Amino acid sequence: MEHVILVGMMGVGKTTVGRIVSQLTARNFIDTDYFIEKQEGMSVSDIITLKGEDCFRKIERNVILSFRLKTSSVVSAGGGAVMDNDIFLFLKKTGKLVYLKASPESLYKRTANIGSRPLLRHGNRLEIIRALLQTRESRYMESDIVIESDKRSPINIAEDIVERLHL
Ligand code: S3P
Repeated sequence: MEHVILVGMMGVGKTTVGRIVSQLTARNFIDTDYFIEKQEGMSVSDIITLKGEDCFRKIERNVILSFRLKTSSVVSAGGGAVMDNDIFLFLKKTGKLVYLKASPESLYKRTANIGSRPLLRHGNRLEIIRALLQTRESRYMESDIVIESDKRSPINIAEDIVERLHL
């Protein structure tokens, strides 16, 4: 039973690609944000806006560290989750980490809907994305495999993941 954990910036396509990988390999699909929203009864966007990012990170930590995956799964991890060392080590132990990598410019194009992305709302969105990537990329690069996702279709990326992980 091998789990696949997708990491990378918001807007890179973890959910879309993750769903396809789960269908191609008969795995469950799990989105960490979905579990947070279910537990809290509110959207991630509302949690961050109303309670603050620190509060969101505590909830995210508790939710992810209590995951006990019973069937083979593909997990899409919220973009900032692996910056917590315990979450990173937990996910690394749990499955194969896949970094979906994209340039700041393509992430910028893919995050136009800032309504649901409070972390990108205040200031120049491209600059915020560049700054976040700069602090996160070395952690993302500790993944088992790195998949370039610029200018590729979700299905093409998903098939690449299946092939490279021999799923
Ligand atoms: C975040 C990414 C979001 C969500 C929250 C914070 C981040 O998840 O967890 O808005 O810090 O990058 P996705 O990466 O699934 O969009």
